[in-house]
Amino acid sequence: PQCSKSADNDRFDCHPEPNANPQKCVARGCCWKSASANFDPEASYNVPWCFFPSDYAGYSTDEIVVTSTGYAATLTATGQWQLPYGTRIGLLRFELFMPTVDSIRFKFYDPANKRYEVPISTPEIQKKAFKTNYHIDFTKNPFSVKITRKSTGAVLFDSSPSPLIFTDQFLLISTLLSSSNLYGLGEQKAPLQKGGAWARYSLWARDQSPTFNTNIYGSHPFFLNLEPDGKAHGVFLLNSNAMDVDISPKPAVTFRTIGGILDFFVFLGPSADAVISQYTDVIGKPFMPPYWSLGFHLCRYGYSDTAYVKKIIERNRAIGIPYDVQWTDIDYMDAKFDWTYDPKRYGDLPSVVEDLHEHGQKYIMIIDPGIANTQPGKYAAYDEGVKDGVFIQDSKGNLLIGKVWPGTVTFPDFYHPNATKWWTKQAQDWHTKVSYDGIWIDMNEPSNFVFGSTVGCPGNHLDNPPYVPQISGNGSLADNTVCPSALHYSTSHYNLHNLYGLSETMATASAVTSVIKKRSIIISRSTFPSQGHFGGHWTGDVFSTWEDLHYSIPAMLEFGMYGIPLVGADICGFNHDTTEELCTRWMQLGAFYPFMRNHNTLGAPDQDPAAFSKRAQSIMKAILEVRYTLLPFLYTLMVNSHMTGVPAARPLFFSFPTDVNTFDIDKQFMWGSSLIISPVLTQGAESVEAYLPKGIWYDLYTSQMIGSTGKMIGLPAPLEKIPVHIRGGSILPLQAPAVTTTLSRKNPFGLIAAYDVNGSASGELFWDDGDSLDSYSADKFCHVAFSAAQGTLTSVIMKNGYAPESPLVITEIRVLGVAMKPTHAEVNGQSAKVTYLDHLLELEIADFSADLLSPLRVTWK
Ligand code: GLC
Repeated sequence: PQCSKSADNDRFDCHPEPNANPQKCVARGCCWKSASANFDPEASYNVPWCFFPSDYAGYSTDEIVVTSTGYAATLTATGQWQLPYGTRIGLLRFELFMPTVDSIRFKFYDPANKRYEVPISTPEIQKKAFKTNYHIDFTKNPFSVKITRKSTGAVLFDSSPSPLIFTDQFLLISTLLSSSNLYGLGEQKAPLQKGGAWARYSLWARDQSPTFNTNIYGSHPFFLNLEPDGKAHGVFLLNSNAMDVDISPKPAVTFRTIGGILDFFVFLGPSADAVISQYTDVIGKPFMPPYWSLGFHLCRYGYSDTAYVKKIIERNRAIGIPYDVQWTDIDYMDAKFDWTYDPKRYGDLPSVVEDLHEHGQKYIMIIDPGIANTQPGKYAAYDEGVKDGVFIQDSKGNLLIGKVWPGTVTFPDFYHPNATKWWTKQAQDWHTKVSYDGIWIDMNEPSNFVFGSTVGCPGNHLDNPPYVPQISGNGSLADNTVCPSALHYSTSHYNLHNLYGLSETMATASAVTSVIKKRSIIISRSTFPSQGHFGGHWTGDVFSTWEDLHYSIPAMLEFGMYGIPLVGADICGFNHDTTEELCTRWMQLGAFYPFMRNHNTLGAPDQDPAAFSKRAQSIMKAILEVRYTLLPFLYTLMVNSHMTGVPAARPLFFSFPTDVNTFDIDKQFMWGSSLIISPVLTQGAESVEAYLPKGIWYDLYTSQMIGSTGKMIGLPAPLEKIPVHIRGGSILPLQAPAVTTTLSRKNPFGLIAAYDVNGSASGELFWDDGDSLDSYSADKFCHVAFSAAQGTLTSVIMKNGYAPESPLVITEIRVLGVAMKPTHAEVNGQSAKVTYLDHLLELEIADFSADLLSPLRVTWK
């Protein structure tokens, strides 16, 4: 073998299993050499000692033909094959499509035998783009594909550095990156920026509290890579099988998957926003959440009865906490059976829900996928499911029985053609008893308390594939879940496992939409690309620690990049006991999660706002009031997400792509391009060292202006304060807060216009009734664009498709960064009250009332 290219960074792993040795390595036809770099004991993965020679077996082709949609080639396996992963598929088909100027799709598949492909719908490709921003190059022997950006030559994909491998259960391909600034490849507890060092991220949905170097609930084989000049591109591997993703400092990424086909998409951006927009063109744009879902949600595991739930509701109402949604966990269920409530402990649940509705609040309950099989003939969900044949079967065709909260259970196959109808019937019948407003779906990896099933797994080639990715647990795919050999309607659990949460979200969203006929939310623990089109996500069983407070930020930001903008972590932490200080800081950070829910585990002390001291209560209430004030802005960002895919909460580099200082920041984040949030993440800290990119920033609370040259700045942050700054150049729509969004939506609007260095600013507002299903599909919304220059602020009504019951009025405008004191202001020709704070350069215009949905003209001098 050709082992001369053996520098650490040039290596690609030929022995990914543990316990490699020179004999085993040489038997694979690979090169063995110790690493020259020091071993990093913290790393999830290190320099491989057994690596592919540069002339390793691969595929070759004689001819690459031009087709009406791109290119195609037939590839033949070459060289001597010695890896212990089955035989290679001798002939492969390669097809490359050029659907748009900024996107490419290419596939490697077996033309002779139809293999499993991921059942998510993607846009059909009929023709080739007339013009493209990319070049495609090939090598024929060995075959490789290389995609570069025309304008700069930056590498977007290049499969040449390692061999291409394609057996039935082992597929490998590597690609070069254009820099080590790499994001995505979750779900993992990890920093936001994942490149630069050796690392291995394995994807196999698992019920597992977020811990480093561990596969957890969701699988997202998508990455975003920044190029040297700050342009961004994205790469998506549409494959749902268990896989490893190896990151190396070359920089390169290797995908090692154990099934399906290799089906890649490359998105050219060139901004990070554009990458996510192009990615969501393929996987689906985020669903439009109802307005109320952006309010505060309160939950816990361990509300033993409704008396407890009522106590929590009442004591938080009593102190005026802005609070839209009360949730209940599995405690409400009768013996933990789905679609039932305990007649003794939760007998008056329907009236608790009615009371919430009377107060303008909403109710969401948990539903788990496991359907108890222990009361046949007496439990409709099970009986009807058996009749409709919707449950997963073992490899012999009998019902597969697992074990979850209610004891033994069957697992619905949500891809079964009868499943959605059956599930909708359960959701419908349940709604006649308890008029819920949304559903929380948990345990849907799916989680199973026994290995594979109550009788284990048969141990065939699906249960024990020749290669198992480096997943946690006991190293078996069946650990904590259903046997991979189990049968869904269309294919094996081996193929569909990572899609279980998505398929349940799709069935549940469809059920709830037809039952409620209004917008709702489905919040799922397990996710896969296209989840965001149907629902949101919470980040699972995080710990009540300062470390997990920090890691909730990269978790939230990565889900935004996966097209799932409605995301948040369990505020105050789930596992273990929180503290008043941690919970206060977490409520402050959580006020800036798109999905804001405080949730707690069984047995831990209460952590709802009213559980704490007067001081903590008032801090929590104050930050909730800030969130509710900002909700028109957050809602506008969510509408933008729905239309374009671009997340509401996003990393700084999205807005500052040429500022290298922002590339690995995950202790701060932004709302759109207008607000930067710099939370306290350390116990006892009373200030934050925060990075403010070059420009003008204004303290959200005091309007104090900071001109930054792009540097770390010490920001005071006593317990009362989470630093938040408005970026100069922004106009934010606001509304006075109230205890629910039902009430706050009736309050007058206001604007903050924050000048940039040139004395200008702009912003927008999307508004609608907040919960109709067709607000955006039938154009029943309003869109107002605002802009400010020296002495003027005006609006343009871009769209006027929503007629509110009572007029929407704007009654207050604050302009930040006004250098000269004005004495007179007019709103639509009528004079208004002017207040000017010279030490802050802040102008306040009040005592007027203007129609928000008519063009606004405000002048001052
Ligand atoms: C799982 C969920 C958690 C929930 C618990 C009980 O651990 O992740 O949020 O409280 O189950 O249903």
